[in-house]
Amino acid sequence: MICCRDVSVHLGDRLVLDRLDVELQRGGWLSIVGPNGAGKSTLLRYMAGLVPGSGELHLDGRRAGTLGRRERAQLIAYVPQVPIIPDGARVLDYVLLGRTPHIRPLGVEGPRDIAAVHDALARLELVELAEREVASLSGGERQRVLIARALAQGSPLILLDEPTTALDVGHQQQVLELIDDLRRTAELTVVTTTHDLTLAGQYAERLVLLHQGRIVVDGRASDVLTEENLARYYDARVRVVDDGGRPVVIPVRAVPT
Ligand SMILES: Nc1ncnc2c1ncn2[C@@H]1O[C@H](COP(=O)(O)OP(=O)(O)OP(=O)(O)O)[C@@H](O)[C@H]1O
Ligand SMILES: [Mg+2]
Repeated sequence: MICCRDVSVHLGDRLVLDRLDVELQRGGWLSIVGPNGAGKSTLLRYMAGLVPGSGELHLDGRRAGTLGRRERAQLIAYVPQVPIIPDGARVLDYVLLGRTPHIRPLGVEGPRDIAAVHDALARLELVELAEREVASLSGGERQRVLIARALAQGSPLILLDEPTTALDVGHQQQVLELIDDLRRTAELTVVTTTHDLTLAGQYAERLVLLHQGRIVVDGRASDVLTEENLARYYDARVRVVDDGGRPVVIPVRAVPT
């Protein structure tokens, strides 16, 4: 569904992504992890066609460069780490923006668009907030609105940049379960970035650990989330405990002397 070959991205005079290869099958879930500044958001933005780079990008078997904006948006829904929300936008209108690639230029939304919006609002428990201004919502409510917009878009590939950072533990699980359900039932292909390593290991089938713009480890959660890797690449002191084959990452504090 997505295939990056030998991808490099320069921003300003910095090499931010350095010759990456990433491949993901339809219905797969890839989580990109790595310390601050490693290049995770840049990689998602490259996949979404929002930053230029060298190398090859194929989406659904087609060269990304041959896709028009509308075609690309029908294929990919992208939720940025720091979204721009139009002033005064109500939740309902904002989620409806996700349907833009399906509505003819100067056309109006049809019953399918309305149904997709209501379905996304219901799935993310936002029905009661539909008339509220997005700017008036709490951080976690707003994050659910962004995900609702992406789901309403109905694209087969979804890129989510740190989608659960503002969510409480219950909503984190609900949102990730919902995405996993769509992955299994509708073959949604999912790429996420996250700093929640335990959750990454519970939901993604594959993890890529980025460090200074390079992929340094690529594999299953148990291969990537080791105490050694997290010490080496995050400079973190953690214990990794096995929970039925899934690693649980616990930060530990050095005993003060
Ligand atoms: N426009 C730009 N010009 C120069 N450098 C940039 C630009 N945009 C991003 N960078 C740099 O590229 C590097 C990667 O940024 P990116 O946002 O991809 O990191 P990240 O892994 O998502 O980090 P975080 O965990 O903090 O979200 C950072 O060092 C950042 O400062
Ligand atoms: Mg980022």
